[in-house]
Amino acid sequence: MNLLFIGDVVGSLGREMVTQYLPKLKEKYRPHLTVINGENAASGKGITEKIYRQFLDAGAQVVTLGNHAWDNREIFEFINDAKYLIRPANFPEGTPGKGIAFVKINDLEVAIINLQGRTFMSPIDCPFKKADELIELARKRTPFIFIDFHAEVTSEKQAMGWYVDGRVSAVIGTHTHVQTADNRILPEGTGYLTDVGMTGPYDGILGVEKEAVLKRFLTSMPVRFDIPKSGRGQLSAVFLELDRKTGLTKKIERIFINDDHPFYS
Ligand SMILES: [Fe+2]
Ligand SMILES: [Fe+2]
Repeated sequence: MNLLFIGDVVGSLGREMVTQYLPKLKEKYRPHLTVINGENAASGKGITEKIYRQFLDAGAQVVTLGNHAWDNREIFEFINDAKYLIRPANFPEGTPGKGIAFVKINDLEVAIINLQGRTFMSPIDCPFKKADELIELARKRTPFIFIDFHAEVTSEKQAMGWYVDGRVSAVIGTHTHVQTADNRILPEGTGYLTDVGMTGPYDGILGVEKEAVLKRFLTSMPVRFDIPKSGRGQLSAVFLELDRKTGLTKKIERIFINDDHPFYS
């Protein structure tokens, strides 16, 4: 079972990178399942139904979200009907949408779980306890369980990796928009990467126009953060090869594509 996960797609440049490179990545890695984090896909702020459908048309089976899930209000009109769009599962009870999706791949099934951290982020339910609850539910159906852990601090992400080691296929971090180089297989077999990184503008600051961010740092004045629509792009992803029987990770490879790290087929 091969799985490809593309990190936080930011704005139109990020979407163009997906359109341009996903077919090439599919040819190279032959993933059975492709998951995209789309929390910044609509101009950096949330996602629209049209973009969600574009991701599915481009070849993704599941789209995950994060703290920007509600930024585009259109989401409230379609999230409850979007079977393969998930938001962090530990959002408070009564929140629209869901935090787990099951996808059938031939005779196998994969569970995708979205969780969000709490350190330096909104106070939501405990991601660790929610992980226990959803892993128990998922393991009744399948050993293939993928977690997108959307969190700010590396310690909370590592803690999650160790906490679920051996119980899920992989824990891959999102949210910081910068890819970390610590991809590994934990002792009990769970694939782990602190952050997969961002897919979008290569010359901005975390995907945002650098002039505005610089002005904020230099003056502390309120500024509007715009997303560059043109310029150079980057794509950040991770490839996982999972054991067909145990669901655990056999191989984890980081993917980082931009002008300085060209794609080789
Ligand atoms: Fe993000
Ligand atoms: Fe985020």
